[in-house]
Amino acid sequence: MTSLTLQAPAKINLTLDILRHREDGYHELCMVMQSVSLCDRIRLDFGSPGGIRAESGLRFLPNDKSNLAVAAALAFRQATGGRWQDLLISLQKRIPVCAGTAGGSSDAAAVLRGLNQLTGAGLSPQALAQIGEAVGSDVPYCVLGTTALAQGRGEKLTPLPPLPPCWIVLCKPLFSLSTPALYRAWDKARPKLRPDTQGLIQGLEQGDLTAVAQRLFNVFEHTLSPRQRREVEAIKVALVQAGALGAAMSGSGPTVFGLFDQEVAAQDAVTLLKESYPEVFLTRPIASPEEIPV
Ligand code: C5P
Repeated sequence: MTSLTLQAPAKINLTLDILRHREDGYHELCMVMQSVSLCDRIRLDFGSPGGIRAESGLRFLPNDKSNLAVAAALAFRQATGGRWQDLLISLQKRIPVCAGTAGGSSDAAAVLRGLNQLTGAGLSPQALAQIGEAVGSDVPYCVLGTTALAQGRGEKLTPLPPLPPCWIVLCKPLFSLSTPALYRAWDKARPKLRPDTQGLIQGLEQGDLTAVAQRLFNVFEHTLSPRQRREVEAIKVALVQAGALGAAMSGSGPTVFGLFDQEVAAQDAVTLLKESYPEVFLTRPIASPEEIPV
């Protein structure tokens, strides 16, 4: 086999808490993560001459090792002592780019999974996650996926019970955020309000979607500029007025999501938000790796 097509699911943060600024420059995190059914499609082609590179048809996405998918292929080759030279990674993007939903990290994780299969390396998901650590903080989570508590830099993962079945509406605001700048803003602001992570985990354990939805919380929302905060709040209010049980910003943003127990209400929210925003998606949680769309 010389080529393979895979799906790379987006993720949302049900919670995002920052515990402290570490000596190595990173921040100690505590986050509840959930994979969702919105996926990028990735094709790996061995032997297509030209070295290891990506193509996406998007001008603003790099094709060299500054693309996390290429960085993942390089890290995999180094870790496994591979001698192969040529790999074309074709990315069909659907996950919003630089939007807090782990699009780039999930593409990188899919490359690790795909190369493991194509080369017959036979590494465990845990070993692939460890290779992913050097590529990006969210890559280990994206290798394992589903519902998990992520701690440390994001690489210490504990599986959690799945989010109860629901509909998830994602909406990307019209502005962009820089992840390092958000962490710097947190260093300055040190917001006092924090998520009830244990309460949310208890909600997952009890299969109580309402309890989970009431505890969605992202500390980064409290580091946004007033204009950005207004836009995020307006989307959250629109989602809740449409029937969402709760809403929050995901990761380092700016994508906002809402959890719905009724499909019709979620679809109505999508229709309404699409009047103002180009990137709005109706998704479902992924409870096990078998549920990743093919
Ligand atoms: O690991 P990754 O490349 O995804 O991180 C991007 C940036 O986000 C880092 O350079 C750092 O500024 C910040 N970061 C952090 N603490 C983390 C994860 C990321 O400060 N746990």
